[in-house]
Amino acid sequence: MKIGIFPGSFDPITNGHMDIIERAKNICDKIFVAIGLNSAKKPLFSVEERIEMIEKCCQFDDSIDDSNVEVTSFDGLLVDLCKDIRAPLIIRGIRAISDFEYEYAIALLNKKLAPETETVFLMSKGEYSFISSNMVREIASYHGDISSFVPPFVNNKLLEIFSQ
Ligand code: PNS
Repeated sequence: MKIGIFPGSFDPITNGHMDIIERAKNICDKIFVAIGLNSAKKPLFSVEERIEMIEKCCQFDDSIDDSNVEVTSFDGLLVDLCKDIRAPLIIRGIRAISDFEYEYAIALLNKKLAPETETVFLMSKGEYSFISSNMVREIASYHGDISSFVPPFVNNKLLEIFSQ
């Protein structure tokens, strides 16, 4: 069984992330969506909330077989998680050429740290190429409409948070 890891902050998960999870089925049998706990960032959502959101969004999405998706979190190096769960494949989405330089450097570092891993980039669909979790949080904080950028479950969570 080929296992892939889709790492990220997912604060919150967006339709762009959902599209990558769906398309990952073409390259791996099981995908771990892994929330990296980055101490330098102050997240809007707790890790528990992010896990719940990703699990619920995958359950509610007919194009995703959620029995092949596992949501987890990690605190440390991504390559250590790859070793722990025996996942040779790291999957990252690339939205625009501006993402590439950063992603390329990380992929090379991860390859150096763990030569047995392969990073695979999936190009975002055009309609998702401008969506980021940062933008979604900012628009939601100003009561803008983010319903076409995130799954309904996430939209409702953001509405709850910013309705006060
Ligand atoms: O969604 P993001 O914020 O771009 O995700 C970044 C993430 C979590 C994938 C990245 O920061 C990561 O892999 N962190 C784990 C620490 C690590 O392995 N660093 C080595 C490469 S610099």
